[in-house]
Amino acid sequence: MTSPDQPTLDNLSSETRRFPPPPEIAEHANVRADAYEQADADRLGFWAEQARRLDWAQPWDDDKVLEWDPPFAKWFGGGKLNVAYNCVDRHVEAGYGDKVAIHWEGEPGDTRSITYAQLQDEVSKAANALIELGVRTGDRVMIYLPMIPEAAIAFLACARLGAPHSVVFGGFSADALRSRIDDVGAKVLITSDGGYRRGKPSALKPNADEAMEGTAIEKVLVVRRTGEEVPMRDGRDVWWHDVVDRQSTEHTPEAFDAEHPLFILYTSGTTAKPKGILHTSGGYLTQTSWTHHAVFDHKPDSDVYWCAADIGWVTGHSYIVYGPLANRATQVMYEGTPDTPHRGRFWELIEKYRVTILYTAPTTIRTFMKWGADIPAEFDLSSLRILGSVGEPINPEAWMWYHEKIGGGRCPIVDTWWQTETGAILISPLPGVTVLKPGSAQRPLPGVGADVVDDAGKPVPNGGGGYLVLTEPWPAMLRTIWGDDERYVDTYWSRFRDQGYYFAGDGAKKDEEGDIWLLGRVDDVMNVSGHRISTTEVESALVSHPTVAEAAVVGATDPTTGQGIVAFVILRGDATDGGEELVVTLRNHVAKEIGPIAKPRQIMVVAELPKTRSGKIMRRLLRDVAENRDLGDVTTLADPTVMNLIGAGLQSGKTED
Ligand code: WTA
Repeated sequence: MTSPDQPTLDNLSSETRRFPPPPEIAEHANVRADAYEQADADRLGFWAEQARRLDWAQPWDDDKVLEWDPPFAKWFGGGKLNVAYNCVDRHVEAGYGDKVAIHWEGEPGDTRSITYAQLQDEVSKAANALIELGVRTGDRVMIYLPMIPEAAIAFLACARLGAPHSVVFGGFSADALRSRIDDVGAKVLITSDGGYRRGKPSALKPNADEAMEGTAIEKVLVVRRTGEEVPMRDGRDVWWHDVVDRQSTEHTPEAFDAEHPLFILYTSGTTAKPKGILHTSGGYLTQTSWTHHAVFDHKPDSDVYWCAADIGWVTGHSYIVYGPLANRATQVMYEGTPDTPHRGRFWELIEKYRVTILYTAPTTIRTFMKWGADIPAEFDLSSLRILGSVGEPINPEAWMWYHEKIGGGRCPIVDTWWQTETGAILISPLPGVTVLKPGSAQRPLPGVGADVVDDAGKPVPNGGGGYLVLTEPWPAMLRTIWGDDERYVDTYWSRFRDQGYYFAGDGAKKDEEGDIWLLGRVDDVMNVSGHRISTTEVESALVSHPTVAEAAVVGATDPTTGQGIVAFVILRGDATDGGEELVVTLRNHVAKEIGPIAKPRQIMVVAELPKTRSGKIMRRLLRDVAENRDLGDVTTLADPTVMNLIGAGLQSGKTED
């Protein structure tokens, strides 16, 4: 615990580079600076205005924009709408049937372009097929699919029927799938024979079969993607092409209450039982649609948008499916990995489709840094105008690399902070308004209340560090944890119960101008000789050295300082392992950048870092390594072999002091 005169989290680094909005973006921006004032003056009125972006079958009651029974919220009470109608049909009715919704690119190079009219047909057929399989409004449907168009179609077919979907990322194991099927109580599963990954078919159906043993699943709809032989169980399993393709393209969408459940998405959780995060319809679609419009400055008539996340992650839900399609976007969807068949695949796709907006994760950007800037330099990236980042704090150096090497120095970067629980982006620059600071998510979007507070829940002054909290309910907020209101209250609302704040679990600081800098999960904060140091700041200091592409730091028990900082670094493409000398250089570099207190006790050069499928570093496992413990649960690792690599590296590891 910290004492009153000690900061909750030390503020160590400072970043002075500034990037004002390019005039041509500022001039035509969808959202201007006045939006902040407007929302401050009348927050609920502001959200009600954004809800009018959607087509409502029945408007909400004027006095029920928000019903707040802390911490349980209802938005747009009395209103009715159909989410799929808003994402598809209304665009066709407005005359945009021929506009491409999705340019899909398979990893092997096969492609499909799907117009809004075709999407309407496909979604209607899939909805009719689900009805034939017994799905009714309120039933939960499990989705376990690779990045193929049928994934988006399946989401929308469920939404059309008011049957909440629960998506499990295709890379998750049978066990992970089974526990989620059981928790959500699904009777129908949509999956595929497999998908392509790293140049090879990668099977899904066998995992699904294993997961379904002993569950309540009655029907399985299977998409044929790879054509590999898969067992089909009679009476339970049917092919998508047999059942969906023969359905009628007519299906009348029914309007549901604004609070009708839309989906349940399990947070992968680095510890404990996964939480089924429940999102509902009207508020969620309002905020995902508005943020996609505001933060990416999306123009439906000219932009080509690409969110490179996986559909099994919340980013895929909010910023591949619901937000962009509600906004009539034309988007790119890519099945595979960025290095297949070569390390320029992303840039080739941007050149091919003239992508204007790219949204990806810092982990991916740092991987590209590691591979070297000469790869993107071979492609024409001049169509890009806005770049986005999500999932982790983006280190200032990775930000600069993204800005220069990908954005050609002309594209604003929106560093978007949000969570599975928040449903939509809450803290981010606005590309036509904000003077950007590399590494900062900057300020809460209009209509959002966020602050950084100390242990006692008091806002920290500018220049101080502490806990990120959300001070007001927001339309896309989670409504509860599926089947467990108590856990919902305990997990998110008990830490600052007296203030009524939502505790996000993240550390953050405010700079001298009040802009917010995310500092990583508070569970990861290190305590070195009584100083509370964020993992993010030390990692960013390491990444700011020209030899380092990526870094992860953890606090390991230390007899003298309480915790000692242990760093794992990956070198850039052109850097060679500099041995002992490099370790000394890097330690001194950190001392110079943020102070001697943050000097790592130990630095290990590694080839890979343990990450979850959504790209977050699993520091828990690195702590196990740093403290010479047996590894804990590794089942949520993207690549389970990574820990062997790190273990091997350790034996030859270099230790200082
Ligand atoms: C982290 C992803 C810093 C944060 C949408 C958060 C970020 C967690 C950022 C949620 C960002 C996400 N800067 N940290 N721009 N975006 N995070 O649920 O720790 O997969 O709490 O949602 O990712 O991860 P989730």
